[in-house]
Amino acid sequence: MERWTPGSWRTLPIEQTPIYRDQAALADVERQLAGFPPLVFAGEARNLKRQLADVVAGKAFLLQGGDCAESFNEHSADNIRDFFRVFLQMAVVLTYAAGSPVVKVGRIAGQFAKPRSAPTEKKDGQELPSYRGDIINDIDFTEASRVPDPQRQLLAYRQSAATLNLIRAFAAGGFANLENVHRWMLGFVKNSPQSERYQKLADHITETLSFMRAIGLDPEHHPELRGTDFYTSHEALLLPYEQALTRVDSTTGDYYATSGHMLWIGDRTRQENGAHVEFMRGIRNPIGLKCGPSLTPDGLIRLIDALNPENEAGRLTLICRFGADKIGDALPALVRTISREGRNVIWSCDPMHGNTISAGGYKTRPFDRIMSEIRGFFGVHQAEGTYAGGIHLEMTGKDVTECTGGARAISEDDLRDRYHTYCDPRLNAEQAIEVAFLVAELLKAERISRGLQEQHAAE
Ligand code: PEP
Ligand code: CO
Repeated sequence: MERWTPGSWRTLPIEQTPIYRDQAALADVERQLAGFPPLVFAGEARNLKRQLADVVAGKAFLLQGGDCAESFNEHSADNIRDFFRVFLQMAVVLTYAAGSPVVKVGRIAGQFAKPRSAPTEKKDGQELPSYRGDIINDIDFTEASRVPDPQRQLLAYRQSAATLNLIRAFAAGGFANLENVHRWMLGFVKNSPQSERYQKLADHITETLSFMRAIGLDPEHHPELRGTDFYTSHEALLLPYEQALTRVDSTTGDYYATSGHMLWIGDRTRQENGAHVEFMRGIRNPIGLKCGPSLTPDGLIRLIDALNPENEAGRLTLICRFGADKIGDALPALVRTISREGRNVIWSCDPMHGNTISAGGYKTRPFDRIMSEIRGFFGVHQAEGTYAGGIHLEMTGKDVTECTGGARAISEDDLRDRYHTYCDPRLNAEQAIEVAFLVAELLKAERISRGLQEQHAAE
């Protein structure tokens, strides 16, 4: 393989990239970004990789989620707080059910660039270039708004820094206290139309926490109950930005992307000899690879040869997004090939991107299809003797109406009420926590079948 440099992707074919009119302005932005402080530190990316290695071994579960696209307009403390609060509740429910740590990775503080299925969009007879995420152009439907503007990369960097700053404060400063999270979760259960279904698991968590407190394990004396590890991730789509934030780690001499802890390659940009795969193979962060219906077992092995030649556990997460109707046919062949070849990967399920339909002029995702893909995913791993290692969701902490269904049975007519997404439809706060409770049932069933359930089975 050719020698890798942070810029070696530049001579290769590239998909989904904006054409900047003013190349001098772009170069100036890249120069500025290259001088800015890193957003994350290589040691943190290594910690995440170690935690992900536990997921490979079936000793931890990965929860990854957040906006489809972060936006400049919706940048507020409330949004960040509400997201974080929901995410932590999901993590507690999953931790309890899995009986093992949950690795928490947000699609946040950098998730700005979007691949699009078509280069242009039509509205009322007018055709304009597609919106490609706030880091590239503006969502307003005017000619001027859709011109890619390199200055937006500076705004995205600043917003990511501010978002990450607040998240770090929340994660370490007491907000993520386990007893707070537990209280929020009880509020959710009480208000849910499905509260009966969720009550039992919630009660178990309550009992466990009172027991812990009784023996002196309380947040006042145990810092690990007051805070949590939380990592950031986004799709590494806009390579000039990613390159500018790629730095040599002084302790190891290796290159790390410092725009986020984990980066992933999208389903539309995973060409074997393309620019995105080239860039990603050289950074040492943990990385993700979206796996959709067009990926063949041989193609996957070739990609892994390029992306994880040393077969390092925790380096590579395969984020499967086939669709509820395709997963049963597509996933087993990939799983068998990976198992036969002994490749260390995390199998994660993105039940969002293969289940988008259109209804009444809106893109939506029915809650039942989302759950059906997750069930199919767990079913395949159960049958193949492999580990269903994680889920990858598009979600928000707000009460939006973007995905239909869930306990509150959002209908297609309801979509117009609070449809706020800048790109794909997200689970709202309640729907996201419901997914966690339902996945908890699957994890618990899996534990029973793995024979790790003795204690609970005895109850
Ligand atoms: C996404 O995760 O927002 C996305 C575009 O996914 P995919 O590459 O799997 O289509
Ligand atoms: Co999306």
